[in-house]
Amino acid sequence: MESKSPSASRTTMTDMVLPSETNPLNNLFGGELLARMDRAASIAARRHSRRITVTASVNHVAFNRAVPVGSVVTVEAAVSRAFKTSMEVYIDVWMEDRFSGERTKANEAIYTFVAVDDTGKPTEVPRLAPETDLEKERFAGALRRKQLSLVLAGKMKPDEATELKALFMGA
Ligand SMILES: CC(C)(COP(=O)(O)OP(=O)(O)OC[C@H]1O[C@@H](n2cnc3c(N)ncnc32)[C@H](O)[C@@H]1OP(=O)(O)O)[C@@H](O)C(=O)NCCC(=O)NCCS
Repeated sequence: MESKSPSASRTTMTDMVLPSETNPLNNLFGGELLARMDRAASIAARRHSRRITVTASVNHVAFNRAVPVGSVVTVEAAVSRAFKTSMEVYIDVWMEDRFSGERTKANEAIYTFVAVDDTGKPTEVPRLAPETDLEKERFAGALRRKQLSLVLAGKMKPDEATELKALFMGA
């Protein structure tokens, strides 16, 4: 199967934060941001695989900065590595200053999607060929994150997680 670049899956969604989407501090509710990230990441996974995709796991979310009501928020998602049937999708969240238009990074997350056929059975996806330094860095760390996610989900034995052993024991 032909490999694809991360830019083939890059998905950008821009929207405002409305009062109904905030917490009592008038900042964006975490669950609302998770849903926006899931939607953008799902489209990215679909663009890469051209298949039905389902969220298999949310591997990492960092709510580093609060996002106030009225903010313009941009969610950018792209496949960072493709395995056999699963894809890691990296999501960056940006806030836009209402006066200067300057963008600052607010949050980031890493989701895993699996491509499935019409019966829900996992199906193969194209490989990913990273191009930029950032894409290569994210690609390189993805196997370690996949193994960690599988170990935490009880789907892989810790002693089979070669990348984690190398990280913690210098093996
Ligand atoms: C995701 C799903 C298809 C995986 O099914 P499964 O029986 O575990 O299938 P497999 O064991 O063959 O795994 C398929 C791939 O997912 C990966 N995977 C499964 N669980 C994972 C996890 N927790 N973290 C990372 N990767 C995971 C496997 O490593 C495998 O990847 P690979 O083929 O690229 O090597 C299945 O669990 C499912 O349909 N879940 C519901 C998804 C859903 O409805 N999501 C919406 C949220 S409600």
